[in-house]
Amino acid sequence: MKLSLWTWLACHVASTFALSPRHPARNLKTRATAASNHTAYYFDQAIDHFPQSSRYARHSNGKFKQRYFVETSYYKAGGPVFLYLAGEGPIDGDTHLDVSLITHLMEQFNGAGVVLENRYYGTSCPFNSSTTDELLYLTTEQVIADFDVFARKVTLPGLTDINAPSMPWILYGGSYPGALSAFTKKTYGDTFAGAISSSGVIHGQLEYPQWYDPIQLLAPQDCVASINDIVDNMDYLVKSNNTAAIQQLKELFGLGALKDIRDFAQTIAFPIGGPFVYPTYTWQEINWDPTRGHIDFFDFCRNVTDGNAPANNTEADSALAANTKGQVWKNLGNYAAYIKRVVLPLCPSGDYNSGECFGTQDTAHWANTTSNYVRSYLYTTCTEFGAYQSAQPYGKKSLISRVIDAEYTQEWCNKAFPAGQYNSIPATPDLDIWNAYGDFNFTAENLLFVDGTADPWKDLCYHSDLAPQRYWSDAYPQHLINGAGHVWDLRTLVDVSAEPQFIREATYLELRTVERWLKDFRA
Ligand SMILES: *[C@@H]1O[C@H](CO)[C@@H](O)[C@H](O)[C@H]1NC(C)=O
Ligand SMILES: *[C@@H]1O[C@H](CO)[C@@H](O)[C@H](O)[C@H]1NC(C)=O
Ligand SMILES: *[C@@H]1O[C@H](CO)[C@@H](O)[C@H](O)[C@H]1NC(C)=O
Ligand SMILES: *[C@@H]1O[C@H](CO)[C@@H](O)[C@H](O)[C@H]1NC(C)=O
Ligand SMILES: *[C@@H]1O[C@H](CO)[C@@H](O)[C@H](O)[C@H]1NC(C)=O
Ligand SMILES: *[C@@H]1O[C@H](CO)[C@@H](O)[C@H](O)[C@H]1NC(C)=O
Ligand SMILES: *[C@@H]1O[C@H](CO)[C@@H](O)[C@H](O)[C@H]1NC(C)=O
Repeated sequence: MKLSLWTWLACHVASTFALSPRHPARNLKTRATAASNHTAYYFDQAIDHFPQSSRYARHSNGKFKQRYFVETSYYKAGGPVFLYLAGEGPIDGDTHLDVSLITHLMEQFNGAGVVLENRYYGTSCPFNSSTTDELLYLTTEQVIADFDVFARKVTLPGLTDINAPSMPWILYGGSYPGALSAFTKKTYGDTFAGAISSSGVIHGQLEYPQWYDPIQLLAPQDCVASINDIVDNMDYLVKSNNTAAIQQLKELFGLGALKDIRDFAQTIAFPIGGPFVYPTYTWQEINWDPTRGHIDFFDFCRNVTDGNAPANNTEADSALAANTKGQVWKNLGNYAAYIKRVVLPLCPSGDYNSGECFGTQDTAHWANTTSNYVRSYLYTTCTEFGAYQSAQPYGKKSLISRVIDAEYTQEWCNKAFPAGQYNSIPATPDLDIWNAYGDFNFTAENLLFVDGTADPWKDLCYHSDLAPQRYWSDAYPQHLINGAGHVWDLRTLVDVSAEPQFIREATYLELRTVERWLKDFRA
């Protein structure tokens, strides 16, 4: 793995956030205003909320400092508190209290806003490192218990009488925190007056090939077809054990040094993305607001399909034809040239097979117990959530090679988290823990699910194609945004009426749903 390329963020080390594995909203460096310069506060949080539970081989009486930011400028006495769950990254430089749905909520309902860092992220780490034993308390039940205690006990600067449940607290989470928002509302329904789960991944499964489905369906189709065919040809070489041709293919991409074919397959898939980590912006980082999003994916596709590319690119399409019954690999040269120009320079040492770059087979690299957000997120992936990167099987079109399967990610888990004295990871993720909150039968009152049809995470969300058709009821509200990607409701405009129509109407739906919850609360 190439964590260093992604900015290795240690606990207790403030650092600029370069690229998040899954959460586009935090990549955005634009529009940070003076108001985003929030003072950090720290809540004394119990490391172990379940001293009686047999799930933990060792209990802790310790506390850790859980970091949070507060915005009180819209607050009027008696107003609600909007709790933004930050999830799988440090909250340094967070701007969700500036221009976002949370801002509109605070403004419209005279509320206060809080951004809360997850345990084991940023400075909110219970321990100085992250050995398997130290990660014992990074479980979903502990994470959401933090939110309950926080809402009931925290003090907010300059405010009095703000705690739940006597005052209305409303949760918002998107992506992984979208699942946490739903799990929290379900578990601590009396503490929170309402919760929004945006692109909330409430369903855990081992492999997640469906991550690629919206891209397969909605990305420029000439680009998609070229990549599908190149993947099929590559997989044919693998199946026929044509090691010489595979080496030639790797070299065409400048990646002859990559020993494991799966590392090669993952590296050439970086511009498309995947459910775990990648160093460049992908389909997931496209946004309806061009000042928020990143169009690298579209650049990539236009490069792949460039009909006016230099002759050496076009000639490369035939380089491997002799191995595929004379079939030319259309746009292979364009694809390879893009990877060489955009992805390879991310490894300045040129040692592509190293753990610092694109090689994932270096055990020592994974076993480094320095805390960082990728390690914490990997732990949750390996223990409860899954969603491992994998290809669609033969018989379906795939955007990534079928050499990538669950075993590939599981090997990282095993290298990263060797059994400790008190804690060990399961052989495969214990998905029952994640799915026990309700899975696709999820119900909790005053919980609003908002998803997007073009979101690669959609099939783990409430509106998954794997779930039943959804219908609105006031008790169980839900909304699927036409054409929207991952958490596209979060980043609003100051003037909501100027948003694109399907986003705008989702914003209005969320505002009036929260208004109804607040009225019900007061009634
Ligand atoms: C942010 O806060 C720090 C510490 O209070 C202060 O030194 C700095 O000037 C502030 N920056 C802005 C842009 O307000
Ligand atoms: C973490 O390191 C600091 C500084 O060395 C030390 O004071 C503190 O006790 C350590 N905390 C834990 C939980 O080990
Ligand atoms: C694939 O080819 C290599 C090199 O020729 C050989 O060592 C290996 O045994 C072959 N594997 C299979 C599964 O045929
Ligand atoms: C290729 O991608 C680059 C960005 O990496 C972009 O500037 C350029 O316009 C793209 N080429 C084509 C033909 O679109
Ligand atoms: C074609 O040549 C250009 C310019 O040297 C280079 O950037 C590109 O990577 C080459 N294409 C391939 C497929 O190697
Ligand atoms: C572990 O990673 C940290 C942060 O990148 C680095 O400073 C340290 O040298 C690494 N430790 C080992 C033993 O490689
Ligand atoms: C949802 O509930 C139905 C009916 O009780 C049951 O058949 C189904 O297995 C449940 N699905 C999940 C994912 O729990």
